[in-house]
Amino acid sequence: MATGKTRREHWGSKIGFILAASGSAIGLGNIWRFPYVTGANGGGAFLFIYLLCVFLIGLPVMLVELSIGRHGKKNPVGAIKKISPDSKWSLVGYLGVITGVGILSYYLVVAGWTLGYFFKSLAYSLNKVHFAQFVSNAPTQSLSFVLFLALTAFVVAGGISDGIEKMTKILMPILFFLMILLIVRSMTLENSMNGLKFFIIPDFSKVSGKTFIYALGQAFFSLSLGMGAMITYGSYIDDKSNLVSSGFYVVFFDTLIAVMAGFIIFPAIGGAPSKSGPGLVFVVLKNIFLKMPMGELVAILFFALLAIAALTSTVSLMEVAVSYLIDEKGFERRKAVFLTSLITLFWGIPSLLSLGAVPSLTKIYKGMGFLDLMDFIFGNISLTLGSLLLCLFIIFVWKFKNAEKELSRGFEKFKNFSILWKISIGILAPLAISIVMIYILITGETLG
Ligand code: PFF
Repeated sequence: MATGKTRREHWGSKIGFILAASGSAIGLGNIWRFPYVTGANGGGAFLFIYLLCVFLIGLPVMLVELSIGRHGKKNPVGAIKKISPDSKWSLVGYLGVITGVGILSYYLVVAGWTLGYFFKSLAYSLNKVHFAQFVSNAPTQSLSFVLFLALTAFVVAGGISDGIEKMTKILMPILFFLMILLIVRSMTLENSMNGLKFFIIPDFSKVSGKTFIYALGQAFFSLSLGMGAMITYGSYIDDKSNLVSSGFYVVFFDTLIAVMAGFIIFPAIGGAPSKSGPGLVFVVLKNIFLKMPMGELVAILFFALLAIAALTSTVSLMEVAVSYLIDEKGFERRKAVFLTSLITLFWGIPSLLSLGAVPSLTKIYKGMGFLDLMDFIFGNISLTLGSLLLCLFIIFVWKFKNAEKELSRGFEKFKNFSILWKISIGILAPLAISIVMIYILITGETLG
């Protein structure tokens, strides 16, 4: 177990890290959030800007987090303190810890839906599920939320290599093949070409400042960046591993799965979605399964795997706070898990009730419900701010030459193209993020 006193745990192998980090990155962000945010922001043009954000900003920030983590061999607060002991920069780590729990509080609600849909498929009653009714049923929502929280706590309490690593190795490839099957089904439905066009052909007249906020936020969310999850995971990588190629694989797989989700959802809608919100994917998927031979069986498998993909992400969200409590506060792992779960539980209640169970929570700010608002604040703004602060930390505190040294360990050739990374972290990322942040502050523009 990872305590401050014993030798720090390591991933079993390089592929073990890549799979576990991909497990963190790949989750509801790819399959639930990406399609609906793309749908709400104009389709193809959003996809184009999203891909630019991922490779020009996301990948470089991924390398920042992995290098800080491996250098510090600690949670985000401890890793930053190791580089800059008596400064306020550790606040970036605290922001990460709070953001992790903030995201977890509503992520578990959606993760609970995957469980609900799994059980409905198992009972062969997927056809009877009505999304709006389903999510406004407080008792079943609470039950699946608590169940998912308990599952997450159980895995996190089991320690790093035992719990997370083994599970991801087997299940992620199965999810991948199932998604290919769904793409084939979706592409052969009526009007699929119109939906495909909406997804991949950019219409730049639909681009506004909002498009950039959401593309950047979605890139950080999907890649698990900006809150120290990758600092924490990086802290378990040994000194000989190649951080750059590992980081690249994680970004590549994550983006592949998101784009594949788009290829499932949009052809099935058959055009631009008339209304795109958190329910989009669940409504569309149900229709795909019902139009498929043995669809209910496929649905059982798909929702089980989606729940597991979500679990490998919730585990990483919880791990940030837990490793902080262990390393910095001397908690025993199980107690740290218990405390984090308790806070998450209370924080999750308003989100849980915001989809119809309690009408006053369905619209609390600019047309957003409580869950949407949490997602906007923590899943979008906080991750983007966290990423900006990490770039500034590299530029002004740790300095490029030290970060570069860390990234070159296990990968001598990094020096040949580190200039590209420096341009991104030194100029492009901070500039793009600052412009987006200032834009939000001035216009107050949000999804709602
Ligand atoms: N990347 C996860 C997803 O796409 O579902 C969500 C997430 C996990 C965000 C861990 C942030 C994080 F630190």
